[in-house]
Amino acid sequence: MATKLILNVLFLLFFAVIEASSPGKYARVVRSSIVSNTTYDFVIIGGGIGGLTVADRLTEDPNVTVLVIEYGPFDKGEDSVLIPGAYNPFPYLKQDLFSVPQPGLTNEPEFIPVGSVVGGGSTVNAMFFIRCTSEDYDSVASFGNPGWGSSDLLPYFKKSENFTAPDPTFAKERNITFEPSFHGTLGPVHASYSPFDYPGGQNFWDASLSLGIPELEDPDSGESNGLFWLLRALNPDTETRSYARIAHYDRVIATRPNYHLMPETAAGKLLFEGKKAVGVQYINRTSGVVTNVTATKEVILAAGAVHSPQILILSGVGPKKTLDQFNISLVHDLPGVGTNFQDHLDYAITYNFSANLFPNADDMVDNATYIAEQRVVYDTTRRGPFTLILTTGNDFVTLPLRNATSDWESVLASAQSINPASILPNGTDPTVLAGYIVQRENLLARFAGYKTPIGSISWNTGSTTTLYMIKPLSRGSVTIGSTDPLTNPVVDFGAVKDPTDLDLMLALFLKNREIMQQPSMQVLGPTEVVPGANVTSDEALKAAFRATIVPTNGHACCTLPMVPLALGGVVNDVLQVHGLESLSIVDNSIWPIILSGAPSATVYAEAEKAADIIKKRYGLTSG
Ligand SMILES: Cc1cc2nc3c(=O)[nH]c(=O)nc-3n(C[C@H](O)[C@H](O)[C@H](O)COP(=O)(O)OP(=O)(O)OC[C@H]3O[C@@H](n4cnc5c(N)ncnc54)[C@H](O)[C@@H]3O)c2cc1C
Ligand SMILES: *[C@@H]1O[C@H](CO)[C@@H](O)[C@H](O)[C@H]1NC(C)=O
Ligand SMILES: *[C@@H]1O[C@H](CO)[C@@H](O)[C@H](O)[C@H]1NC(C)=O
Ligand SMILES: *[C@@H]1O[C@H](CO)[C@@H](O)[C@H](O)[C@H]1NC(C)=O
Ligand SMILES: *[C@@H]1O[C@H](CO)[C@@H](O)[C@H](O)[C@H]1NC(C)=O
Ligand SMILES: *[C@@H]1O[C@H](CO)[C@@H](O)[C@H](O)[C@H]1NC(C)=O
Ligand SMILES: *[C@@H]1O[C@H](CO)[C@@H](O)[C@H](O)[C@H]1NC(C)=O
Ligand SMILES: *[C@@H]1O[C@H](CO)[C@@H](O)[C@H](O)[C@H]1NC(C)=O
Ligand SMILES: *[C@@H]1O[C@H](CO)[C@@H](O)[C@H](O)[C@H]1NC(C)=O
Ligand SMILES: *[C@@H]1O[C@H](CO)[C@@H](O)[C@H](O)[C@H]1NC(C)=O
Ligand SMILES: *[C@@H]1O[C@H](CO)[C@@H](O)[C@H](O)[C@H]1NC(C)=O
Ligand SMILES: *[C@@H]1O[C@H](CO)[C@@H](O)[C@H](O)[C@H]1NC(C)=O
Ligand SMILES: *[C@@H]1O[C@H](CO)[C@@H](O)[C@H](O)[C@H]1NC(C)=O
Repeated sequence: MATKLILNVLFLLFFAVIEASSPGKYARVVRSSIVSNTTYDFVIIGGGIGGLTVADRLTEDPNVTVLVIEYGPFDKGEDSVLIPGAYNPFPYLKQDLFSVPQPGLTNEPEFIPVGSVVGGGSTVNAMFFIRCTSEDYDSVASFGNPGWGSSDLLPYFKKSENFTAPDPTFAKERNITFEPSFHGTLGPVHASYSPFDYPGGQNFWDASLSLGIPELEDPDSGESNGLFWLLRALNPDTETRSYARIAHYDRVIATRPNYHLMPETAAGKLLFEGKKAVGVQYINRTSGVVTNVTATKEVILAAGAVHSPQILILSGVGPKKTLDQFNISLVHDLPGVGTNFQDHLDYAITYNFSANLFPNADDMVDNATYIAEQRVVYDTTRRGPFTLILTTGNDFVTLPLRNATSDWESVLASAQSINPASILPNGTDPTVLAGYIVQRENLLARFAGYKTPIGSISWNTGSTTTLYMIKPLSRGSVTIGSTDPLTNPVVDFGAVKDPTDLDLMLALFLKNREIMQQPSMQVLGPTEVVPGANVTSDEALKAAFRATIVPTNGHACCTLPMVPLALGGVVNDVLQVHGLESLSIVDNSIWPIILSGAPSATVYAEAEKAADIIKKRYGLTSG
């Protein structure tokens, strides 16, 4: 009876919440005044993929109360967010976030794209929805994390996903293949193929085939090398973005009075009692007012790979040297925090075509008549190029080093001759160096095999082919430059500190030149503009790469790695921070080595698994 009474009182309180926060569509959006009067079991920092997925799953238990603190606002359902062909991430990216100058590139600071909005990266990303080679996950397991191998994660990939098969006629025409047993159909995040391709897609497909690159049945099978069609986080009924805000907030919120979200609020630091996390100090971004909130069970840090380490350091958890330098009182000396930063490198090759096909991806950028005409098609039939993320293509070639270049052995030999310590900053903690040495051994062994890709090649059918270099050996870092939590962290991509990364890019580049030489591409009359057909020596090509490589694809990761303490680790295999209590990390920071593919599908699966781990830890129930 007493319990029931408490529950009723809780319910009344929550209805008061709805009243107080002028609900509209988002009834559980709360203000500080409500937060101050509520007791939370879990406080989650960051309402991105990791944060919202865990918040959704934990609040399936009606006895659990959760608060998500999110730096950004809700999106307003703009076309730029929802409609793939109207894609524009910029309004919801953190606008002023730049790295330190990158001497390996042009020695300029580089923009760091980070979603700053409810849904995080999933609200602004290019909707690539893909898993990675089974060797990626099996390697994570081999670093002391038994539950994180590919077969352990498969059930969580399936749980997270609602896969819709393409129309069979269209699939046959466009060579879309998939293996249903690898997919889920009951999960919250839609996965489907754009029902449109430009005619040039066929030329790229045929050129790749004529070079002997095999068609891949399903890149989500654990086998990711070959030629395939890209799956997207796309709702197949409306042909609009499927993202964490809809999948893990809007979908459930009407029945979850126990799920609170406070937007436009920055988490400043974690509050500790000894080694136990007990709450969060947050800042209203409008008023600057600073408030504390208590978490009776756990604080879950999910602010992404750039901001999670910043928040830890500001809280007194990180390399002691840094904490001392800023006079931050030490809670726990953890040398790995903010080390091991990685991202994918993009290189754009541009062409002039004398006989390209109409329409192609460029028409959606520069032909106003076509754009207007196709918008009507989309609005009336949900078909056409507006179902495809602007400027991207559907066809992908993903290759291991050995298939990208016959020179693979010399690339490996020169990588092996590099002293790992020379790639990390002087004075790097020995445990962090030990971890990096283990990573290099793992990667170089995989580079000698056929399963782990080094990159992807995709022609968008217009003027651009993008090379995605996905297995860098270089490492960067995240630290603080100020104790003010609203000041951006100091981020170093460490781009191409290891020159092997340029060898890997070169291998992809030369393979792409071979693709372009095939008859089915030559009929389109391509002339390479950037870097230019006359740029041919390895050294000149590498110089060209340094001039225009973008050191990020928005896939920042790995700054709080899940490896043992002796290897510079920050979290253990159940996502708890080493040496601390009541603190978990659930975001893209935890991977030791950057994943081969775009990370969103894996972060959803990680967070599904994290929710199960945390529920088990506290004996919570599922919905
Ligand atoms: C432009 C762009 C394109 C991308 N394209 C793709 C793609 O096509 N496919 C793909 O798979 N991946 C893509 N990604 C990457 C993918 O979206 C991210 O890797 C993924 O969202 C990471 O999830 P996360 O939970 O780690 O962090 P996020 O989803 O980034 O969530 C972190 C959240 O924490 C919030 N936050 C940060 N600091 C604070 C603070 N102090 N207080 C409160 N909240 C805070 C942020 O505002 C954000 O909402 C792209 C990313 C970008 C930026
Ligand atoms: C932040 O402060 C502004 C201005 O005082 C207020 O309108 C807003 O509701 C506050 N936000 C939260 C989440 O409390
Ligand atoms: C919390 O609730 C009490 C009682 O309803 C109210 O008096 C108080 O003003 C509230 N606190 C805040 C910060 O709104
Ligand atoms: C909620 O908690 C009460 C009291 O501890 C318990 O009796 C009840 O079974 C719980 N409900 C669920 C769904 O776990
Ligand atoms: C999965 O997606 C399909 C297509 O949108 C939809 O009809 C179905 O209801 C979805 N399933 C679930 C469990 O949401
Ligand atoms: C599909 O693949 C076949 C060969 O398997 C090829 O001939 C055809 O051109 C491809 N079609 C497209 C649209 O890529
Ligand atoms: C790579 O090369 C091997 C050996 O020739 C071949 O079996 C495999 O199909 C190739 N894979 C790709 C993706 O090119
Ligand atoms: C918040 O917690 C910190 C650390 O315990 C404390 O110093 C501060 O006074 C608290 N602030 C408020 C407003 O309670
Ligand atoms: C740290 O404290 C010392 C001694 O009080 C002071 O000299 C120094 O300026 C402080 N450093 C910072 C970054 O605040
Ligand atoms: C632009 O699009 C229109 C409408 O589809 C088409 O008729 C026209 O040829 C296109 N113009 C160019 C330069 O391709
Ligand atoms: C790091 O150490 C090496 C070898 O001792 C030295 O050559 C180099 O200048 C140092 N770099 C920095 C940035 O101090
Ligand atoms: C590409 O086309 C543009 C516009 O027609 C022209 O100015 C440029 O010289 C061409 N570049 C090459 C390398 O053919
Ligand atoms: C390639 O040609 C362009 C345009 O003619 C010229 O600017 C550039 O210097 C040439 N590069 C090389 C490596 O010859």
